Amino acid sequence: MPTVQEIRQASADGEPLTMLTAYDAPTAGIVDAAGIDLILVGDSMGNAVLGYDSTLPVTVEEMASHTGAVARAAEDALVVADMPFMSYGTTDGAGVENAGRLVKDAGANAVKLESGPHTVALTERLVNLGIPVMAHLGLTPQRLNQVGYSRQGTTEAAAEEIRELAERHEAAGAFSLVLEHVPGDLAAEVTAALDIPVIGIGAGPETDGQVLVLTDVIGLSESAPPFAAEFGDARGEIEDAVTAYREAVEDGDFP
Ligand code: KIV
Ligand code: NA
Repeated sequence: MPTVQEIRQASADGEPLTMLTAYDAPTAGIVDAAGIDLILVGDSMGNAVLGYDSTLPVTVEEMASHTGAVARAAEDALVVADMPFMSYGTTDGAGVENAGRLVKDAGANAVKLESGPHTVALTERLVNLGIPVMAHLGLTPQRLNQVGYSRQGTTEAAAEEIRELAERHEAAGAFSLVLEHVPGDLAAEVTAALDIPVIGIGAGPETDGQVLVLTDVIGLSESAPPFAAEFGDARGEIEDAVTAYREAVEDGDFP
């Protein structure tokens, strides 16, 4: 398992960082063996695998259970667990305890928080405790009821807020920053301004790395955001296998 310093060094050496989500042991094992640098146990698992229609219902218990499965399967990738909605930011104590559960009990190497002015102090506290923190700015889906899933940082004031929060979280000790669904020129500016690696999603090509949701990438999601990309047809493969099995049993060809 690399340390966050090794991830930062790889990025500083010019290696584009690759990150994908995973939520269970078999897919985490595949992602890990394929050489992906960081595995995110995203709260996107609410939509991707738990059947919720947003990330808001995901609990710390669910995150811990799935993080455990991923951490047990990953050998080379750094495992980052998302802090779910309402598990941090309410009080610093709650954020520290819940981050501790994901790292100490479930085996994550780092946590990711949807960042804002309220997460600067918590980021510093977690880092001081030995819990690496990945910041997340731009579109932050836990604020669905405030901003929907729209592109962020599109006005000068909003772009300035993102630039400022990015600097504040770097100063607080975050080891990297996810920048989601913002204009590519803003992402390029933030990437140039920060020493820590910026990992983009729907943020153009000029970041230090990219992240996508695994079920979108493999073609398993029922719906995906406009900036996602399919690199495979897992849904088709599973449908073919299941249909072939049913037909073989019904036709008496199996067993
Ligand atoms: O939950 C998630 O998958 C994420 C990524 C989209 C960055 O936060
Ligand atoms: Na997330």
